[in-house]
Amino acid sequence: MKKIISLTFTFFLTLFIAGHSYGQLQKVFQGAQEQTRLLLKDIPAAQAQWGNKKGTPVSPRTLDPQGELVLVPSRDWTSGFFPGTLWFLYEYTGKNEWLMQAREFTTSIEPEKWNGGTHDMGFKIYCSFGSGYRLTGDPHYREVIIQSAQTLITRFKPETGCIRSWDHNRDKWGYPVIIDNMMNLELLFAATRLTGDSTFWKIAVSHANTTMKNHFRPDFSSYHVIDYDTLTGEVLKRNTHQGYSHESAWARGQAWALYGYTLCYRETRDPKYLRQAEQIAAFILNHPRLPADLIPYWDFDAPGIPDEPRDVSAAAVIASALFELAGYSDQGKDYRKKARKIVGALTQNYRAKPGEAHGFILLQSTGSKPANSEVNVPLSYADYYYLEALLRSRDAKVKK
Ligand code: GLY
Repeated sequence: MKKIISLTFTFFLTLFIAGHSYGQLQKVFQGAQEQTRLLLKDIPAAQAQWGNKKGTPVSPRTLDPQGELVLVPSRDWTSGFFPGTLWFLYEYTGKNEWLMQAREFTTSIEPEKWNGGTHDMGFKIYCSFGSGYRLTGDPHYREVIIQSAQTLITRFKPETGCIRSWDHNRDKWGYPVIIDNMMNLELLFAATRLTGDSTFWKIAVSHANTTMKNHFRPDFSSYHVIDYDTLTGEVLKRNTHQGYSHESAWARGQAWALYGYTLCYRETRDPKYLRQAEQIAAFILNHPRLPADLIPYWDFDAPGIPDEPRDVSAAAVIASALFELAGYSDQGKDYRKKARKIVGALTQNYRAKPGEAHGFILLQSTGSKPANSEVNVPLSYADYYYLEALLRSRDAKVKK
């Protein structure tokens, strides 16, 4: 009898770790809704604390060291993730409650469609308006996506073959391009689909090719920042900003690279992007310092491993990317298994307890360890990619 109980327990534990059954997924989304209701309730008090700071606080981003809710104005690179989370809750539940909230929070970042001062347009607009358009077909959302893409491509310079990421730190870099920028290409591919104008598509492909040439080491790990000569396109520097060192592998950077080349393959079907995504996946998944639960430390080369903070946001991005890559690759079975293991671990060991963390869903992300900023905290983008990964896991269930 004891043996049967133990075998049954092991069976259900394996099921849980390997992913989520239908009922478990429902429970996780139930919990995510309850947490998000709490977050919505706490936003007005945080808005009241905003004072004379620049802009209007629109979206939650994280918690400060005192555990207080931190909001951001629409210009912040993370402003689109909370609206995106609301769209995912609407997608899963079909409830009007989430549709209304998603619409409201999405509208509040519309001014960004004119903001040509940053490359983060895809993060902001595609996670919010992109999901909104996919789920509602609202023609106004379509217009916002197109205008945002038009603004984004003003940052492309043919001499470099890529889109400039940052305008800050001008003393360090003349034309910095960061691996994160791969994520913004999704918006450009969408703009070509919506308009038939191939300009956006060509710029996205040029950016992906240039990045493939210059951002990667022979082991397919990625540098964070590449600085280009604006006249010749020559690489001037290979640096980091949020990683441990210029030659280290910053975990979220590897995650953006994996997700970025997977989406490039989805949009173009060019096999070189598939190969690139597979090689990046191999670097991450075979790394000797990837912990057994597959939730990476903030940098694969952080000197104090195993006593270094994890980055749950990187894990969530990797899981979501692997679910998609699994649909394209001969190694799909293994990728799905790994992605399920990651979401299982996130659900089991990295979720906030009900009613905690002002309503964020996941704990233990790392924003920028070198700046000692947002270390071991909830982050809106970790929640966003976790819900996306969960939705992708549901859709992947039909496949083996
Ligand atoms: N895109 C900024 C970051 O990943 O922190």
